[in-house]
Amino acid sequence: MNTKIMVCSGKMCVKKNGEEAIEAVAASILKEVELLSMRREVEVGLGKCMRSCSKGCVVTTHPDGNKYFKVTPESGREIVSAISESQACVTA
Ligand code: FES
Repeated sequence: MNTKIMVCSGKMCVKKNGEEAIEAVAASILKEVELLSMRREVEVGLGKCMRSCSKGCVVTTHPDGNKYFKVTPESGREIVSAISESQACVTA
């Protein structure tokens, strides 16, 4: 099953963190997805408000429904690594 990683680009997150920070998180996640050759299994995008505005940057993953708070480019890469490891366990 494909995974979708969404980075919140809602108004409050943009106001609090700045557009550049959100774009940096999304770019680092996408770069890690490409580095791990997961482009076919993982979709990365920007999403609407995830109702955790005080904890931005907010990232959600689907279909597992996990939500990550105060995500930085570094922790964004760790999210992708965790997904990669969990998928490896499923296919092993
Ligand atoms: S605007 Fe990002 S969680 Fe609300």
